[in-house]
Amino acid sequence: MATLDEFAAARSDELQQLDLRREAEPMWFQHERMVGYVAYADRFTGRLDGIADRIDYLRELGVTYLHLMPLLLPRPGDNDGGYAVADYDQVDPAVGSMADLEALARQLRENGISLCIDVVMNHTAREHPWAVAAQAGDAAKHAYYITFPDRTLPDQYEETLREVFPEFAPGNFTLVDGMGATGRWVWTTFNEFKWDLDYTNPDVFIEMLGVMLRLANRGIEVLRLDAAPFIWKRLGTDCENQPEVHHLLTAYRALTAIVAPSLLLKAEAIVPREELVAYLGAELEPGDPQRNECNLAYNNQLMVQLWSSLAATEGRLMSNVLASMGQAPHDSAWCTYVRCHDDIGWAITGEDAASVGWDQFAHRDFLNEFYSGEFAMSYAHGAKFQENDETGDARISGTTASLCGIEDALLRNDDAALDVALRRMELLYAVTFAYGGIPLVYMGDEIGLRNDDDWAADPADADDNRWMHRPHMDWPAAERRAIDGSLEQRVFSIFTRLAAARAALPEVRAGGTVDILRQGDDRLFAFARRHRRENPMWMVSNFGDRTLVVKPQALYTHDVLPAQCVLSGAGAQMIDDVITLPPLGWVWLTR
Ligand code: GLC
Repeated sequence: MATLDEFAAARSDELQQLDLRREAEPMWFQHERMVGYVAYADRFTGRLDGIADRIDYLRELGVTYLHLMPLLLPRPGDNDGGYAVADYDQVDPAVGSMADLEALARQLRENGISLCIDVVMNHTAREHPWAVAAQAGDAAKHAYYITFPDRTLPDQYEETLREVFPEFAPGNFTLVDGMGATGRWVWTTFNEFKWDLDYTNPDVFIEMLGVMLRLANRGIEVLRLDAAPFIWKRLGTDCENQPEVHHLLTAYRALTAIVAPSLLLKAEAIVPREELVAYLGAELEPGDPQRNECNLAYNNQLMVQLWSSLAATEGRLMSNVLASMGQAPHDSAWCTYVRCHDDIGWAITGEDAASVGWDQFAHRDFLNEFYSGEFAMSYAHGAKFQENDETGDARISGTTASLCGIEDALLRNDDAALDVALRRMELLYAVTFAYGGIPLVYMGDEIGLRNDDDWAADPADADDNRWMHRPHMDWPAAERRAIDGSLEQRVFSIFTRLAAARAALPEVRAGGTVDILRQGDDRLFAFARRHRRENPMWMVSNFGDRTLVVKPQALYTHDVLPAQCVLSGAGAQMIDDVITLPPLGWVWLTR
């Protein structure tokens, strides 16, 4: 109560006005005009104050939501791109100050753009004052972390824990000398320099509430709750998605809403699909009441399936997986995306693969070989990430342009191949712009930036090839978007066209339901979206490599037939209720 009082009293008039506006339109973030953009501040404009000069650029893309990657003071040296925070109340001086961040949030808001930043809530850097005090013998701060005197319990936990970064951070515990006579084993899920916080300790819960509210009072509108599924541990489980995680997030949602009702919480929960919708408040057990939990969550399943379908040139697995996924509750929204700063982890289960007669491991191996370019016929220029010798598993790094063949076509100077690669990119983004939610554009995708060849130049990054798909913004290249026929103009126009069509189409807004339509050809991926108030809309797309002719009757069993094709790609069209879809072709249809 004291924390809430303190922050409620400190909330500025300007932000209270924002709260009122949002309370009058609580589903503002489901709006068809929403388009997100995701960037590392330093890689985008160098410093925070440089972003103001790029607001026009963002507006040109139709952006209404900007996620700046971690920018609070990180530990020096390797900090995983800022995900090891040494001080939640300071901005990394390399990009600016807290005053710069506040000024930027206001400027963005005045331009209709909501600022999102990360709250790294599962762990702090071992250089954070709490961890430093714990190491110096402060018992209260020691109790912020999860530590053990010997390997007895860690060994028991390890039996069911997975390794997130098996290559550069094997194991989940780190022996820290000087804590107690023989040192202590500290819980470190991700890296040895990231210490997991102990959320069974109410002090930790309240500290993190303060972190969230301080940022909200500085004008941040969306908090991305990093690694949220990991915040509660239970022996004998994988220590992810425990029921208490949801209770804690639900409590955070309720408490932050008292002080800052306009604040949105976004779950970074890259978890199996049966676990995912609970982060948006869907029932935990059948019959439970719906909760208000996070407003937003990443639709990781859609992202994975887009890449899988592209490589497999068919839509069956994607259709099965997405059809068996719970609907996002009506008051929430997905963040739909093609690429992000992380690797692509092939979240495809044995059951998923078996539903189309495939072997899970064979398909994952195929995807890893395909996207790392090892597969003979592949156009992709990615790389394997965290190859696990024990399990044979791997994930994939690479930018959209490099993974979908733009890099390959340019290297080979092959115009026809470039055409096809652009269609691939357009198809993937067209799905994310229509599926329901906030489509996120990952910085550089809009001008087709390829992998950063110098990604390993900074020794702190050299063991982590995710840096290949975190290039620096190439502003001279971005300028070429004005030159007709340039690569940048061709790519950029994909995004402006999708964003403009979206903004004029209430049918694409979040809320409502997605129904996967599966009566057609295996190569198709099609869905209908229905709202209580808007007309339905349909998207039909062809992931295959030959032209398909689709009779709408085959798809629209219980709807009035769509009357109108509002947007299409790659030469697709609908004439007299017959849809012709060339390879990678797609249509958006409405009544
Ligand atoms: C999230 C971030 C990832 C980071 C991890 C640990 O998954 O997206 O980049 O490595 O959390 O903080």
